[in-house]
Amino acid sequence: MEEQFRILQVSDTHLSQRHGQFLPNWRRFADIVAASPPRLVVNTGDASLAGCRHPDDLHSAARLHAALAAPWRVVPGNHDVGDHPRLCDGSGRRLPVTAATLAAYRDALGADRWSEDIGGWRLIGIDGQLLGSGLPDEEEQWAWLDAVRAQADDRRLALFLHKPPFLASPRDADLTYWAVDPAPRMRLMGLLDDTRLRLVACGHLHEHFHRTHGRARIVACPSLAFVASPTLQAEVAGGRRETGYVRHVFHDDHVVSEIVTDDGIARVLLDDIVDEVYPERRRPAATAG
Ligand SMILES: [Fe+2]
Ligand SMILES: [Fe+2]
Repeated sequence: MEEQFRILQVSDTHLSQRHGQFLPNWRRFADIVAASPPRLVVNTGDASLAGCRHPDDLHSAARLHAALAAPWRVVPGNHDVGDHPRLCDGSGRRLPVTAATLAAYRDALGADRWSEDIGGWRLIGIDGQLLGSGLPDEEEQWAWLDAVRAQADDRRLALFLHKPPFLASPRDADLTYWAVDPAPRMRLMGLLDDTRLRLVACGHLHEHFHRTHGRARIVACPSLAFVASPTLQAEVAGGRRETGYVRHVFHDDHVVSEIVTDDGIARVLLDDIVDEVYPERRRPAATAG
């Protein structure tokens, strides 16, 4: 079947002018984009190192994306806008998503949810950090998502969000740092079970894998920036720990997704620099994503 278009997915770039350790891999990725520009670049979150603490990181990430030789979109990650309130214990180690962090994100990187029609496809980016937040924006996003689906007609759908919708099974019952809150996930299942859906593209794990859900592929994109050792970050989903990006080739009725880890992207190990780049970490628990 004929190729319609190609997009490059990048994730967990953790960009900042305060810490330059991850910039060489970004520059390599920018060169790859320039050499053969895709129809779109999508960053599935944690575009910034710590934008929810340092809004300048969001602006640094925006400037670097704006210099890409292709159109681009970003969805927010926990490091960009903060995390689920019940995952934040008040110690300051994690910060919750708030109206203020959302405003800072939108100011720097634009809308935190978006939909783009390309060929016979509707690409949908959602702010997964709102799911379970209880913020007014969460309900607004559900209404928007319902409309985006209802108006897609017979287009095929591809969904982009930061955290995987689930790890082992849609019936996973516990709230964890690593996946979408199970309660709003039940509502998201309407889209995940939509027979037009072919791709769910996420990041966050700093592990990469392909899974199948119905007629869709779930693709966890590697971090472009870094991986962590099992000592620093216990195994999450059994994925591989390499740095890289994903090339998605969209055909009429399916997507061919290739995880690229051998294209001049350095394998940066977070363990060596974690105290410098994440000084708020007080305990070496499994929270690197
Ligand atoms: Fe993340
Ligand atoms: Fe990350």
